[in-house]
Amino acid sequence: GGPSPIDMVRAVPRILRAPHLFLTEVTARHGRAAAIPLPRTPVLVLADPAGVRRVLVDNARGYGKATIQYNALATVTGPGLLAGDGARWRTHRRVVQPAFHHAGLRDVAGHAVHAGRGLAAAADALAPGEPLEVLEATSRAGLEVVGHTLAAADLSRDAPLLVEAVGRALELVVRRAASPVPGTWPTPSRARLAREVATVDDVCARVLADRAARPLEDPHDLVGLMLAAGMEDRQVRDELVTFVVAGHETVASSLTWTLDLLSRNPSALDRVHTEVAALEGDPGWDDLPRLPYLRAAVDEALRLYPPAWVITRQALADDVVAGVEVPAGTLVIVCTWALHRDPALWDEPAAFRPDRFLDAPRRDHYVPFGAGPRLCIGRDLALVEEVLVLAALLRTHTVRPAGPPRPVDALVTLRPRGGLPLHVERLPG
Ligand code: HEM
Repeated sequence: GGPSPIDMVRAVPRILRAPHLFLTEVTARHGRAAAIPLPRTPVLVLADPAGVRRVLVDNARGYGKATIQYNALATVTGPGLLAGDGARWRTHRRVVQPAFHHAGLRDVAGHAVHAGRGLAAAADALAPGEPLEVLEATSRAGLEVVGHTLAAADLSRDAPLLVEAVGRALELVVRRAASPVPGTWPTPSRARLAREVATVDDVCARVLADRAARPLEDPHDLVGLMLAAGMEDRQVRDELVTFVVAGHETVASSLTWTLDLLSRNPSALDRVHTEVAALEGDPGWDDLPRLPYLRAAVDEALRLYPPAWVITRQALADDVVAGVEVPAGTLVIVCTWALHRDPALWDEPAAFRPDRFLDAPRRDHYVPFGAGPRLCIGRDLALVEEVLVLAALLRTHTVRPAGPPRPVDALVTLRPRGGLPLHVERLPG
């Protein structure tokens, strides 16, 4: 006989409290490719490296994005790059790709260093002994970088409004997805969501009008690229919101966990300090090859706390994944969290050991940015941004825990429950 059926009704409270742990338990008990025969939509919980490769890479065209996760996201982003698929996705990906080439990343480097110094200044401005709220501070730092990437300097005024409205809308979407009330009912939360989406639309319309009035001078400006390609306003709006959703909270989450892990691992923190102290002057683009250990620390934090803790797909046709039959229509849930902490795949999986990424090839069971044709388009940007924000901060400052480790909330990304206070102190000398 197959795996015993999972009592989903009894599981509901655990699913809501810690869905990442529930999925890990499912794969531990029922196998790394665990079929859950739910009546309407069959589900496959997947944490098997070969299976993940099959779904995301080798048979990527056999899977689409019409899943609960992406449908919910699409109520805010529309069918943008992250939530959409098919011909429109292919065209749009080609249009925006040049913004992520190396020349564009060079600009990101400068903004990242500036944002890192901003973090240091925020810490210095606190009363002595008062911890810095790191999730909030990295969120603000990330905003600065995302604003410049999207529409050159244009978003400095509108980006905070946009990000806040998008954030509130997403929170409502997540809460509504966890509620038993059907989403189509005329509840107060449905009306609030409509209001937040209307705010997002207003801000986007303003950004587009501003941008359309200027020529395309900067070839890395995302909005400019899309307008030049003749995309309709509605489509540009969807991609703009997509980049805010995909590029803002993910980076803030990952920066936060990296700082938390470094603060709790003094020997790793020492090695980072040694590395950044050896740079001449402020860090910059050319220093990236001189920061291999810091980069490995970011990689290792992304293993332990992958912001995208699940990646979902809908099977477009029957398939076989890791030996398990997958009927068309199946919801495949790739559980990045489980894959990244599987004791059969990783040595001491719970330990923070950046060394495991030094000079090591990236492997199938490490997918913080996904894999295959839908690989995160912002991966290199995010890594450049994070390494340079951290280098700029840790050149002058060090970090120390302000309390016991925080539990993890698995929402849109992984967040420390109640935020993350951290002592950020100026280094002597
Ligand atoms: C896609 C993670 C930063 C834009 C993805 C996917 C993952 C991911 C896992 C694949 C989703 C799937 O296959 O269903 C992350 C993480 C980040 C990060 C962990 C930071 C640490 C960024 C940034 C941007 C961005 C900075 C943009 C500026 C996108 C877009 C997609 C995407 C547009 C959809 C790509 C496509 O399907 O063509 N990201 N991301 N991401 N990400 Fe990121």
